[in-house]
Amino acid sequence: MPPPSISVIPFDLGALQAPLLAVLLRQGSSLHPSLGPLDNAVGGTIKLALVEGDFRGARDETLQLSGPGGGPRRVLLVGMGTPSEEGPAFKRAAALAARQASKLGVGRIAIVAPDADAEHLEDVAVGVHAGAWRYDDLRTPPPAEERRSPVSEVDILAAEVTAARAAATRGDAIGRGQSLARRLQMMPGNLCTPEFLVATARDIAERHGMKATVLGREEMEGEGMGAFLAVAQGTPQEPQLVALEYGGGSGRPVVLVGKGLCFDSGGISIKPAANMEDMKFDMSGAAGVLGALEAIALMELEVNVVGIIGATINMPSGTAVKPGDVVRSSLGKTIEVINTDAEGRLVLADLLTFARRYDPAAVLDAATLTGACVVALGHTATGVFGSDDLLIDEVLAAGRRAGEPGWSLPLWDDYKELIKSDVADIRNSGGRAAGAITAALFLQAFASEYPWVHLDIAGTAYSDTDMVAIPKGPTGVPVATFVEFVRGRAG
Ligand code: BES
Ligand code: MN
Ligand code: ZN
Repeated sequence: MPPPSISVIPFDLGALQAPLLAVLLRQGSSLHPSLGPLDNAVGGTIKLALVEGDFRGARDETLQLSGPGGGPRRVLLVGMGTPSEEGPAFKRAAALAARQASKLGVGRIAIVAPDADAEHLEDVAVGVHAGAWRYDDLRTPPPAEERRSPVSEVDILAAEVTAARAAATRGDAIGRGQSLARRLQMMPGNLCTPEFLVATARDIAERHGMKATVLGREEMEGEGMGAFLAVAQGTPQEPQLVALEYGGGSGRPVVLVGKGLCFDSGGISIKPAANMEDMKFDMSGAAGVLGALEAIALMELEVNVVGIIGATINMPSGTAVKPGDVVRSSLGKTIEVINTDAEGRLVLADLLTFARRYDPAAVLDAATLTGACVVALGHTATGVFGSDDLLIDEVLAAGRRAGEPGWSLPLWDDYKELIKSDVADIRNSGGRAAGAITAALFLQAFASEYPWVHLDIAGTAYSDTDMVAIPKGPTGVPVATFVEFVRGRAG
């Protein structure tokens, strides 16, 4: 399904014709004067709903009214609650509106947010993409009369049209990046293969004039990437390392690194069967990097950015790496593979080493790295780790602005005891205690030459329950965090 096209049109509610108009309202709103003509067109039912308390504007509250003709056919009031952060609230309400339109199958919606200033229309546009997104490619289409059209056209009404257009265009870019990431995430492992990620990366590179570098098994052998290759040796599928270079500015680049496990069975240390299908999402870090680059290029941000992804699958087989094996990473460090299911850090070890050649201003990696992070922070916050406090704060602030909150966890030396090996320089598992921290400490051993932050998105990249504004499944995290961070660097 192609993303909807978003336009900003002048605020003229009296003349508006639309199958569905969504009105985004704060809790306790009275009828905003600008909504008068609309209320008239729908026979005073909006005012009545507000006065009678049928609609109070609580977060996620919705009320659908039918227009008697003349104005929009349906009006959907969407509540925003009393948010402490405005941006995420506009995003959520717009997503809920688009999701409702998608369920109804109306195809076109108009949105008005009487309390929004022009800047907030960026969030509205991001939300529209989030709510309109769906993945139907693999279903047989129902007969024509039962079909529900996807949301294809969205009109956002605004008073200051020029400023609103600029904001909506930025939001459109972020939304497109997120939807691209969600699509890659949602695709099953037999379709979203390492080759498919390469094809997607090449497509992004071609459309935006980026340089693409691709390494297969042989090239990685040449680089001495024994850690990445240890994971990939269980499958005949070609592993792929892709680097995309976006040259939007001058100076040292921001390097974004993503774990791209198109499937993680655990390898010889095989996972239990329950929910193993979710491990198709183990490429979410890579999807986040590709989605962010798409958005950054669409926004023409004036920063140099390099995106690096490491794509493979983790499988048990006669050739697979075994517990106890020792491999040598491209940094030269030897690694004892205690648990073949701690594969993400092996891939990232060589990616983080590869990042050095770009002389990065900062490196941010994203990975669905540990179940322990899900236990610690649930599905609400991304785990944030790093060796540079200023950079950690910068990333946390970017995540807050993006509506993708992170929470920092410590990388204290005491924990390092847990990943000491009896035979090698380091081991790839520290056991159950502090699992998210020991994983991050492992990465730190390969990221010492530049300011670095690691995002453990195991809990936030996808959700196994419906989250009201967006359905269960992929979330597109951390696309918006990456974009906000890079935008912050653009000054
Ligand atoms: N991809 C998983 C982490 C994961 C778990 C992501 C649940 C999303 C949901 C990762 O490769 C993994 O298996 N980690 C192990 C590490 C352990 C063996 C040290 C884990 O978390 O159990
Ligand atoms: Mn694993
Ligand atoms: Zn994994």
